[in-house]
Amino acid sequence: AGSGKFFVGGNWKCNGTKDSISKLVADLNSAALENDVDIVVAPPFIYIDQVKSSLVDRIDISAQNSWIGKGGAFTGEIRNRAPAYQTPLDGLRQRQIKDQLKTWLVHGAEQLIDIGCKWVILGHSERRHIIGEDDQFIGKKAAYALSQNLKVIACIGEKLDEREAGKTFDVCFQQLKGFADYVTSWENIVIAYEPVWAIGTGKVASPEQAQEVHAAIRDWLKKSVSTEVASETRIIYGGSVSGSNSADLAKKEDIDGFLVGGASLKGPEFATIVNSVT
Ligand code: G3P
Repeated sequence: AGSGKFFVGGNWKCNGTKDSISKLVADLNSAALENDVDIVVAPPFIYIDQVKSSLVDRIDISAQNSWIGKGGAFTGEIRNRAPAYQTPLDGLRQRQIKDQLKTWLVHGAEQLIDIGCKWVILGHSERRHIIGEDDQFIGKKAAYALSQNLKVIACIGEKLDEREAGKTFDVCFQQLKGFADYVTSWENIVIAYEPVWAIGTGKVASPEQAQEVHAAIRDWLKKSVSTEVASETRIIYGGSVSGSNSADLAKKEDIDGFLVGGASLKGPEFATIVNSVT
């Protein structure tokens, strides 16, 4: 762990029922959690409201995706839009509306913020490789989400054949560039390095393997964005993180937290991972 506050996200993916989620929330509510950790869980969209109304405020909520732009006729997508103004406005009125807009954004004018989300996961490998989202589409979504006051967990990571062909860094840098091409401020971004071969397979990257890529990502940020962004952006690891391997990973200098899939569905194990920073 190095940059900023340790960050642990639980990506519940497309899992859960009302009953299993209420049990998971009860387990999280009663868990002893380290104070000095940002904790976020990402339920499926349809359960966000249930989780928001029952989960302790200590844990923030993330969406697992958001639409590229303003809502409307986009069947199956989630609106991610501030109120729009069509009529030409004079300078004073424009300023007033801008202030009003800020208030509305904070208090809930658009759907994800409205329902209590502070974060959104974008660029997850399941959306890249199963749904077919590309770097540009993901970059645009990130920029749009940030413009609407949602913070972004930006995921990148190579597939097994890419690692074996020695292309790990190239793939990660290319995916990072997809974000950098559209994003103007990195303040509200956490980067999640998730090697695809480690996701859901039980084959966790070794602390050395993860550290090597995290350091390369930081170096890329330094060269391609700025020294400040490189030192302040949290880079978290995802891929078969569990209660038994998280402490060793957390010791590495450039591992600033985790994005947890399967193990985040078990409250006590997720709590162990959160507490592994100490
Ligand atoms: O986003 C987290 C994820 O892809 C890792 O999943 O099940 O390997 O922890 P898992």
